[in-house]
Amino acid sequence: MARCSRLALPAAPKLGEGWSRRPKNTATRLRVATARQAERRGCNKQGDSLLRHPPSLSYGATEGYGEPGSAVGYSEKLLQPAVRSLSFVGKSRLRLAGCIGKIFCPFPISMANTILVGAQWGDEGKGKIIDVLTTKADVVVRSQGGNNAGHTVIHRGTKYILHLIPSGILRRGKVCVIGNGVVVDPLALVTEIESLRKLGITIGRNLLLSDCAHLVLPYHRVLDEQRELRKGRAKIGTTKRGIGPAYGDKAARTGLRVSDLMQPILFSKKLQAKIRENNSILEALGARPINYREVNQTYLAAGEKLRPFVANTVVYLHRALQRGKEILFEGAQGTFLDIDHGTYPYVTSSNTTAGGACTGTGVPPHRMDRVLGVMKAYTTRVGEGALPTEDAQLADLLHKMGREFGATTGRARRCGWFDAVATHYATMINGIDDLAITNLDGLDYVDPIRVCVGYRLNGKRLEVPPCDAVQLDNCEPIYEELRGWGRSTHPAKTFSQLPAKARNYVKRISELTGARLSMISVGPARGQTIIV
Ligand code: GDP
Ligand code: IMO
Ligand code: MG
Repeated sequence: MARCSRLALPAAPKLGEGWSRRPKNTATRLRVATARQAERRGCNKQGDSLLRHPPSLSYGATEGYGEPGSAVGYSEKLLQPAVRSLSFVGKSRLRLAGCIGKIFCPFPISMANTILVGAQWGDEGKGKIIDVLTTKADVVVRSQGGNNAGHTVIHRGTKYILHLIPSGILRRGKVCVIGNGVVVDPLALVTEIESLRKLGITIGRNLLLSDCAHLVLPYHRVLDEQRELRKGRAKIGTTKRGIGPAYGDKAARTGLRVSDLMQPILFSKKLQAKIRENNSILEALGARPINYREVNQTYLAAGEKLRPFVANTVVYLHRALQRGKEILFEGAQGTFLDIDHGTYPYVTSSNTTAGGACTGTGVPPHRMDRVLGVMKAYTTRVGEGALPTEDAQLADLLHKMGREFGATTGRARRCGWFDAVATHYATMINGIDDLAITNLDGLDYVDPIRVCVGYRLNGKRLEVPPCDAVQLDNCEPIYEELRGWGRSTHPAKTFSQLPAKARNYVKRISELTGARLSMISVGPARGQTIIV
């Protein structure tokens, strides 16, 4: 993240101008980045510690924290002094030119602490990009959302769909963290762990679950369903996983957290009161009440299965940072599903934008090095709400290719042309430095290809999406047309191997979006990734 640029905030650039103000020259970029990284670790260029007073975190971590796979159970030694000293670890985060897995990258790769966000309406292919980037990360952390997310990773012919567990779990030696900002359905998490284990994935000391994460309980799911039913045609089209009601309880300060689940007597007491309260609401809605005994028993049993993973993840992450570990923040959903910045009320209930990575993990903003925005070469959305560039023909074509069906609910995704008004706004809100464009191959045989470069509302041209849902729905897209390339992009391993018209297309959409093009994905597998 270009921290310096935040100090003197530039005037909002016009569509097509870059927000990213990183130094253009590679050598300068390296120098600036190295100095920033040293500074961030509390050191000057020589590596002397500038931090005279190490911050004291009051409680949390247990012995061995900071080493992958060192988590110990929640019940053990919880009240140890956590951070003793902050010493400089002289490892630079910049890697030399080389390979990300089997993918060759001709430029120095700066993995650093990266926040990865979806720049559209979710399902941008974040899971695939995270899987590729995880080779260079030590820790992968989820900061928001719940099992409404569905992140697909395809490796060696096996399809993995991750809902709560960070996609990094598929790589050995990486620690995956479910942060405090995530809402966790304990039964869903246990099921996910067990199904991954059946597929041969090791899950043990490589997974940590925040004790502060809120729980999704059965009444949240039923309430979600009932509210959607009652809304009729005005429904949001939620995943019915209880996400909205769980975050609602969190905001109302009546939620139950993982730490409650770790204390059975306390949990049962709180659960009983919550079920009593929610049963009267469910009865008023005409839904079946929930059986306290059954839920209590099932959830306590799930809690015992989760106990070995539970920890103070904030302390873990801070220690990892002090040791120079590189953290990848795995965003869920997408910018326009953000509770504040999205197409409200057709949104999810968390901050899906870059800021959510800080609040949802306890890692402060100045520890972040860059933001990577993932976007499809076209647009999709699942659920209700405005989608200005929606196009039935394009949707039909993609669906007939067997693409664009939801990873969580299996619903057909709505599809449309690339919307640069939206992605440009996403660059602004998230501070996107780098872009990963996925699903370029979806447009292989489409000609001409349309790109939305502005909206028209009541005769006026808009360069940013309006806040109001009805106004957004009434926006008419202004299109620019580009020629298609008419051949498969699957075999391309480097940028120059892409058809010239495909290169023009990705250059144009990144220019309109206003961030540096870093990665292009031409297929769902790891190897089908081009580092630019
Ligand atoms: P996420 O929620 O952002 O992780 O995205 P999903 O996994 O829900 O949906 C993205 C879909 O696109 C998945 O089926 C991926 O396997 C697939 N995918 C990702 N990148 C590419 C690509 O470049 N080409 C193709 N054909 N599929 C891709
Ligand atoms: P990933 O992480 C796409 C959508 C739902 C609905 C709205 C609210 O896979 O990109 P919720 O269940 O969160 O209350 O639903 O948000 N939605 C997603 N759409 N990808 C997701 O996650 C989504 N998570 C939620 O379809 O419109
Ligand atoms: Mg998804």
